Amino acid sequence: MPAYRQLHLGAFMRPVSIHTAWWRYPGASTDANFNFAHLKRFAQTLERGKFDAFFMADHLAVLNMPVAALKRSGTVTSFDPMVLLPALAAVTERIGLIATGSTTFDAPYNLARKFASLDALSNGRAGWNIVTTSNPDAALNFGMDEHMDHAMRYRRAREFYEVVTGLWDSFADNAFSRDVESGIFFDPAKLHTLNHDGEFFKVRGPLNVARPVQGWPVIVQAGASGDGRQLAAETAEVVFAAGGPIGVAQEFYADVKARTRAAGRNPSHLKILPGALVIVGESMAEANAKKQLLDSLVHPDSGMAALSIALGTDASGFDLNAPLPPTPDTNDSKSARERVLDIAARNNFTVGQLAQYLGGYGGLQFVGTPASIADEMQAWLEGDACDGFNIMFPTLPAGLDEFVDMVVPELQGRGLFRKEYEGTTLREHLGLPRPPNRFFAA
Ligand SMILES: Cc1cc2nc3c(=O)[nH]c(=O)nc-3n(C[C@H](O)[C@H](O)[C@H](O)COP(=O)(O)O)c2cc1C
Repeated sequence: MPAYRQLHLGAFMRPVSIHTAWWRYPGASTDANFNFAHLKRFAQTLERGKFDAFFMADHLAVLNMPVAALKRSGTVTSFDPMVLLPALAAVTERIGLIATGSTTFDAPYNLARKFASLDALSNGRAGWNIVTTSNPDAALNFGMDEHMDHAMRYRRAREFYEVVTGLWDSFADNAFSRDVESGIFFDPAKLHTLNHDGEFFKVRGPLNVARPVQGWPVIVQAGASGDGRQLAAETAEVVFAAGGPIGVAQEFYADVKARTRAAGRNPSHLKILPGALVIVGESMAEANAKKQLLDSLVHPDSGMAALSIALGTDASGFDLNAPLPPTPDTNDSKSARERVLDIAARNNFTVGQLAQYLGGYGGLQFVGTPASIADEMQAWLEGDACDGFNIMFPTLPAGLDEFVDMVVPELQGRGLFRKEYEGTTLREHLGLPRPPNRFFAA
């Protein structure tokens, strides 16, 4: 019996794994984060597994942690997504390519050009993950002394989105006549000059890139505070959610879909994909042993750094054996801080236990056999906790290969996931409409 709706699967690559110890696991390609030969193979394997998208996080500074922890990070060096993804576009044919782009530190004209170019050269497979940037150290690399205020970052993000999408609509889809006889390359009546003048940006336009194949690249959003949810409801077509217990995810799902409806949009045109670390084994015992081994490879210094980042407060002086003391609100990620306070309270953790818990990966995890993992994913989908997942792999290449070779066939066998791509664009994979051009009727 086919499922009533199918999962969408993104692969969350940073560019490889979120787990701190991924590169220390036996058999790992330790340099995979910065080695194109490996990344090419991963993208091609994910395409064989019919994934919707290869999803790349981005950070505009090394992680904001003491060097004792930073020296243990396998993600300290990574490619600029807008250099890596065009290269991956050339060696793949169907898989979507989503890159993170910061509305706090980039300029709308630059960003609009790059994503329109990626969409054209990938034949309609680009997505833009709108982030306001959580790492406060990024400010130090862009001529500022401190991170922009959280509320201002989100106001700027909203205007940034208006400018970028307005620039993508500069040319009508049929603007280019390229009439050799008359010598007219495009019809000037089909070119719109934006002339934007707002609180943060003054941009004349038009964009010097044709309208993207998909109309607009798919709009993705990550950030889960009240402001983040509202931005998602008004603009996003995919939300990268942090995951967590299913009850919390159901509340998030219902809230963001209700906000989307209230914003006058169709909630089914916004797909919510929580991140999920998946560790698969032939048996439960094997999967649990893999998880135990992976987590045991996380150094306590990394755990403490992860806790400090999530709280937005230096936790290194806290008593490891006491409960978490009160900490101030943060200007970094408000949703990340709340998630950690919730984990500490729910599990009654001491500071030391909390740091250990967060040190590898502290979010949603599915650990088990292909059947038990598919059971959990199905329960999330059918329980309206998600529309799919951003899969995180525990180590590379094994974690990725095992997901594609063991879990994907199980999902396909249950009718929960596609056996073949039906369309060619990322929008088609996700079942999203092509946005009309706001300045020109079709
Ligand atoms: C699941 C998730 C993934 C994120 N990925 C990135 C990223 O790749 N790069 C980045 O600079 N910020 C990233 N962020 C940070 C958000 O864009 C946002 O700036 C931050 O979470 C603060 O907003 P919030 O309080 O609404 O969560 C991510 C946030 C979440 C929740």
